[in-house]
Amino acid sequence: VSTKGDFDHFMMKEIHEQPDLIRNLVYKYKSPQVIEKLKKVKDKFDKAETIHITACGSAWHCGILLKYYFEKYNKKQVNIELASEFRYRNPTLRKNDISISISQSGETIDTLASLQLCKEEGLSCFSIINTEGSTIFRECDENLLIFAGKEIGVASTKAFTLQVLTGYLLSKFCSNDLNNDIFKEIENLAGLIDEIILRKDEIKDAAKSYYNKRGYIFTGRGFMFPMALEGALKLKEIAYVHAEGYAAGELKHGPIALIDSEMVNVVLSSLNLQEKTLSNAQEVKARNGILLGVGDISDKELLASCELYFGLDLSKVGDLAGVAVNVVAQLFTYYIALFKGNDIDKPRNLAKSVTVE
Ligand code: G6P
Repeated sequence: VSTKGDFDHFMMKEIHEQPDLIRNLVYKYKSPQVIEKLKKVKDKFDKAETIHITACGSAWHCGILLKYYFEKYNKKQVNIELASEFRYRNPTLRKNDISISISQSGETIDTLASLQLCKEEGLSCFSIINTEGSTIFRECDENLLIFAGKEIGVASTKAFTLQVLTGYLLSKFCSNDLNNDIFKEIENLAGLIDEIILRKDEIKDAAKSYYNKRGYIFTGRGFMFPMALEGALKLKEIAYVHAEGYAAGELKHGPIALIDSEMVNVVLSSLNLQEKTLSNAQEVKARNGILLGVGDISDKELLASCELYFGLDLSKVGDLAGVAVNVVAQLFTYYIALFKGNDIDKPRNLAKSVTVE
């Protein structure tokens, strides 16, 4: 039986579990059993012309980030798709392509149907998954478990984080780079998330100041773009406010028209594409938008532009910076929902596992 322990909500408990689960993931992915699985996936991954990733919700955001990793580290062509679209289109599938389903529950109907479509076309099918023995788990040729334990909060937190890290480990394994430096980087990430959690009162104060604004736009570039989507989804799910995630470079193609003094722009920045992100942020500031930022501690210019800036030392976590930044967004969302008096673990109209269309 799962209990909330010292926490008021499962969501908060699950946010707190992340550092230890990350350390445990590293331990698991050093084990011969898991390495054996990685080898089986790598064999097909290396030969694949296209990697088709299908998923829904937060898992889809993870898939977008994995596309960026597989392109950068593996020079692979990646097709990341919403499962509900993929299953009803006529996607070009070749026999030596592979399919990767990402799912916490392993029961999401659209993700399952997409997997079955790939199977019928003769593709090798793999998953990044939390639930051993679930339907998707059973249908796949091989599964990479994320070892997140049971996730009860409807809004995914720890499962999302561990999906990303499992995909990152796969990417590094397939490029023959999964070594102690990578394990160290992931452990640094766990330490950084510990620090964020210790500073959660700062995030609570920020939520208290901004929880009743009209809307929220999360923006980021590169690896921060999927995190912007994820930050906005979380807010919609449990805070019931209008939130959008946007690629920072797309702001001027529409959403900038929404900017005024009641609109919050949460800028997610990193050491990657820092200057570009800054210039987009300044465009928002020039239009009297409320600018909140999360990014590297050294980014004095972004700090100076923001009403509030949550600085982190992102120098030791490489391309995993987004995972840390996303934990700040998880906590921000949690507190906004708390100040609004919402049912955090069971948000209205939502189900943890979507087994019907
Ligand atoms: C629901 C959940 C989300 C999840 C999505 C996909 O919408 O509330 O948190 O991301 O389904 O679920 P899955 O179990 O396939 O990851």
